Amino acid sequence: MADKIDPAKVPSVKLPSGTKIPCIGMGTFGSDRYSPDEVSAAVGGAIRLGYRLFDCASVYGNEDLIGEVFDDAFKSGVVKREELFITSKVWNDMHARGDVLLALAKTLRDLKLDYVDAYFVHWPFPNYHAPHCDGDARNPDSVPFSADQFMRTWEEMEKIHRLGLAKHICMSNMTIPKFDAVLSRCKVKPALIEMELHPAFQQSELFDYCVKHNITPIGYCPIGSPNRPDRDKTPGDVIDTELPEVAAVAKAHNIHPALVCLKWQVQRGSIPIPFSVHEKNYASNLAAVIGDPLTDAEMASIAKADKNCRLVKGQVFLWPGAKGWEDLWDLDGTITK
Ligand SMILES: NC(=O)c1ccc[n+]([C@@H]2O[C@H](COP(=O)([O-])OP(=O)(O)OC[C@H]3O[C@@H](n4cnc5c(N)ncnc54)[C@H](OP(=O)(O)O)[C@@H]3O)[C@@H](O)[C@H]2O)c1
Repeated sequence: MADKIDPAKVPSVKLPSGTKIPCIGMGTFGSDRYSPDEVSAAVGGAIRLGYRLFDCASVYGNEDLIGEVFDDAFKSGVVKREELFITSKVWNDMHARGDVLLALAKTLRDLKLDYVDAYFVHWPFPNYHAPHCDGDARNPDSVPFSADQFMRTWEEMEKIHRLGLAKHICMSNMTIPKFDAVLSRCKVKPALIEMELHPAFQQSELFDYCVKHNITPIGYCPIGSPNRPDRDKTPGDVIDTELPEVAAVAKAHNIHPALVCLKWQVQRGSIPIPFSVHEKNYASNLAAVIGDPLTDAEMASIAKADKNCRLVKGQVFLWPGAKGWEDLWDLDGTITK
């Protein structure tokens, strides 16, 4: 078994609420490749090793098994509930009035919790795809983003926040135009945003916008998601761990390039949530955020390695009449209506 890490040695980030969140967590999306059993076993191993942040979602299809692992860990005294920061996300088919509460109730029942530390709107529109679908699958009911529709969902999020069922409410897969359209209307501001972040896709403008608005970025696909579902693979996608700048830093520190991606993100100020079911990998990911920092010159060289290469394009969420996946991300600076 890999060496345990004292969670107190893992740096943390303070949210506007005063709550501290670890600077690294574990993702739990099996990418349609790893079974719920494998993912939940990894969560158990990660708790024992010292992980305290877990990124869950109902659509990952494994919250019931992960809940058993949490319950065992609490009952056996491995960790206390209040020592964990557990997130989950409302899926796109549960955005309507009353449905957010129902979705969270199911998540709480599955995870065997009284509250989540953060609850995210997984995508800012009610478009959904069937699990394991192909990249060219489309749902004819899909619609473009609407600020009014999003705000109706956010008001449901504010209710569950008032009820204490979610300590923080948060957004995911947002853009600056979408934030501009909704932030001033939120009575409770999002504490966190999940956004795709890795050296080949740094989203600097959105990153800076979030920091300016006190919204802490959580970086998904932090290693470039090498085992992502086939629907999210496109010819021309960049492999982060093979970027010359990343490889050079890895060589200088004598570590795997995946760990360079994580160190770079933590030092930049985002919280990576790498996924792995392999103990060797998830142990080294946690250890990477302690000591042996990248130099300013190394940070600067990785900053220049950006290739603007989005991996999770989201094309399965496109609505009839949309031109292409770029429409989901408002790439012309305006919201597509
Ligand atoms: N909000 C959203 O819309 C959204 C979207 C996507 C993902 N997420 C969240 O973000 C999490 C992470 O994203 P991801 O899983 O797509 O991508 P990722 O963490 O960038 O990549 C995961 C893959 O990297 C490999 N890996 C991990 N640690 C490694 C190491 N130390 N050395 C070498 N390879 C390593 C693993 O391979 P092995 O399996 O071989 O170990 C794993 O399959 C997800 O699990 C999920 O919780 C959120």
